[in-house]
Amino acid sequence: MERIFSGVQPTGNLHLGNYLGAIRNWVKLQNEYEDCIFCVVDMHAITVWQNPSILQSNTRETAATMIAAGVDPKRNIIFNQSQVAAHAELAWIFNCIARIGWLDRMTQFKEKAGKDKERASAGLYVYPNLMAADILVYKGTHVPVGEDQKQHLELARDIASKFNHDYKRDLFPLVEPLIFGPATRVMSLKNGSSKMSKSDPSDLSRINLKDDVDTIARKIKKAKSDTDVLPSESAGLKGRPEAANLVSIYGALAELDITDVLGQYGGRGFGVFKPALTELAIAKLTPIQEELKRLMSDQTSLDCLLKSGADRARSITDPIIAEVKEIVGFIKP
Ligand code: TYM
Repeated sequence: MERIFSGVQPTGNLHLGNYLGAIRNWVKLQNEYEDCIFCVVDMHAITVWQNPSILQSNTRETAATMIAAGVDPKRNIIFNQSQVAAHAELAWIFNCIARIGWLDRMTQFKEKAGKDKERASAGLYVYPNLMAADILVYKGTHVPVGEDQKQHLELARDIASKFNHDYKRDLFPLVEPLIFGPATRVMSLKNGSSKMSKSDPSDLSRINLKDDVDTIARKIKKAKSDTDVLPSESAGLKGRPEAANLVSIYGALAELDITDVLGQYGGRGFGVFKPALTELAIAKLTPIQEELKRLMSDQTSLDCLLKSGADRARSITDPIIAEVKEIVGFIKP
């Protein structure tokens, strides 16, 4: 059986990378797969310090953003991770399956822990094990994410294989990453060779989904570009990372191939292209922002929705975690 699972951290500042690389693909996939589960991963968020009341509001806002972007909470399961204890239970078992050498290779830990890795939380180090548990506690088969999550999904496959091998079962599927669309890796507006990220200290590096019209215009105006006109063919973008990034953001927002974008703007400079990109970004983001505002004004309904998503999620995880515990040799209550 095919089952989609994906997640997003409620760490504030959801940006165009999260939208184009992940959430917008979820909106598409809900029409192709019957069984989709989308999770606000609050337990992953606390691997770095989160102010508790801000975490609560970010969790609601992240769920509301998914819905405002078009993820349907009736057809799909939407909930926050900490409401379904089986994620943490399976993560512990996976802490005992994954090897330290595997975790040592995770590039995201190295990036996030920075130079002072002795001071990083132990949770940040075992983060990928919890991520594998998120997916496999549903026997999820397909995981739509941006390019940056690929290595974590390879680890999830290694964990599933080792569990199946060690316990001589064919319990967990080997998850397939679904990394598709024109914007699998949206880059920073300030540096075309680093990823657009929530944690970049410069807010000018990203377009947040909540940015108002003036902020979007200012950020695109200040985005790094170059002095050449745009080429007419994509080969001409080679060696021009900032230009390539802006063109691919345009293509992703307009749902056009890069060649079509260049067909339209080849030979034109950024003086023409940036205002067009600004107009397009505003046209696409404003309706999401309005819906987000409406959803956030009714906290009770949002909390109800998360609770009912968690109830539905638990009805899937209960038998799976019971089976895992039995296989591992835990005595049943
Ligand atoms: P997170 O919260 O960092 O990002 C959420 C999703 O957005 C994608 N993304 C991007 N895509 C394109 N360009 C970018 N610049 C960009 N930045 C972020 C991410 O690839 C991701 O798909 N570990 C995950 C959350 C998670 C998860 C899971 C995902 C926890 N458990 C289980 C899938 C399955 C994360 O930190 O995503």
